[in-house]
Amino acid sequence: MAIVRVALDARSYDIVIEEGALDRAGSHLASHARKGRLVVVTDAHVAAAQLPRLEASLRAANVAVEPIILPPGEQTKSWRHLEGLLDDLLALEIERGDHVVALGGGVIGDLTGFAASILKRGCHFIQVPTTLLAQVDSSVGGKTAINAKAGKNLIGSFYQPALVLIDSSTLDSLPLRETRAGYAEVVKYGLIDDPDFFAWCEREGQKLLAGDPQAREYAIERSVRAKAAIVADDERETSGRRALLNLGHTFGHALEADTGFSDTLLHGEGVAAGMALAFRYSARLGLCPTDEAERVTAHLKAVGLPHDLASAHVQADGAALVAHMLHDKKMAAGTLPFLLARGIGQTFLSKDVALTDVAAFLDDDRAAVEA
Ligand code: NAD
Ligand code: GLY
Repeated sequence: MAIVRVALDARSYDIVIEEGALDRAGSHLASHARKGRLVVVTDAHVAAAQLPRLEASLRAANVAVEPIILPPGEQTKSWRHLEGLLDDLLALEIERGDHVVALGGGVIGDLTGFAASILKRGCHFIQVPTTLLAQVDSSVGGKTAINAKAGKNLIGSFYQPALVLIDSSTLDSLPLRETRAGYAEVVKYGLIDDPDFFAWCEREGQKLLAGDPQAREYAIERSVRAKAAIVADDERETSGRRALLNLGHTFGHALEADTGFSDTLLHGEGVAAGMALAFRYSARLGLCPTDEAERVTAHLKAVGLPHDLASAHVQADGAALVAHMLHDKKMAAGTLPFLLARGIGQTFLSKDVALTDVAAFLDDDRAAVEA
């Protein structure tokens, strides 16, 4: 078991990483139950695969579970489901001192965290992430959100959980494609500022994807330590440090928008292709050695992740993709900050990227791949 502390003064909390933690949830969660019960928000897939484990271990600790089961999928991060969830929580008489448990992937974590942040002006919540993406990224750091007609994650809050409980064995029931998409966020930490970890990914990434428990635990802990340090330093993304976590996201967001934020391209898959594009664009600008950009592309390709426009199933040309970027919520005063790299583990924020140049790069990159 590892415990990583997110140091945020009064909002500090622990991330407990323990294989099999769901079967020992009583010891981790019982002290957070009021009147012998805990409300657990989850989705139908997770309810079928993992909720019974949580219920059994809490029952053994004399804690009853009140489940709220929502439909799976990104469309659940909506006004409609937020309203329904808040009504359900109010009907269960949740008070400000209560802890609501989010059992699921980033969708359930983001929605439940947002609901907790506004219910009675804020009740406590606990993240029990069950996708690799949520275990290494979205459950940590307190970004909560729902989607708006105008775009993804446009309505939300910074609201830290009281505890994050990570059981990597929950990944046993996660479809491989989802695990792979989450793995892109693991690779991201190596690319941002940890070249040794990227080298570890090159050596051990396939093992992780095959479900090797040691590889999984190692990658989760290392990722979570990296994210916890960044969040402690820049909780609200004001100094620029937390923005490094958006590596690959500006390109990725445009690819996701072009594919309709659908199952054609999962978020982590968009991030993977986005990171490969960010490195190749950095190489084209003469910032990053070409062989390092090639290493990034080669690793993502080797594990079966999208690494260019074609493998991301994107049809649009550079100008159309850049048009999507103009709606990015990071756009400020007419410029879009871009994450570029001087090499593996040397990511930095650039504010002087010309979007017309990005469009030309995307067209040239597609042509080079097709040649
Ligand atoms: P998700 O929550 O939709 O989960 C993916 C799929 O896996 C769903 O069908 C879900 O039902 C299923 N699932 C989850 N756990 C399972 C398990 N153990 N066994 C079987 N099936 C399981 O997707 P995600 O990739 O976890 O999260 C994506 C969301 O996270 C997006 O909305 C994105 O915006 C958000 N996100 C938030 C942050 C943040 O910092 N808050 C960071 C990155 C992404
Ligand atoms: N996933 C980006 C962040 O938490 O800031």
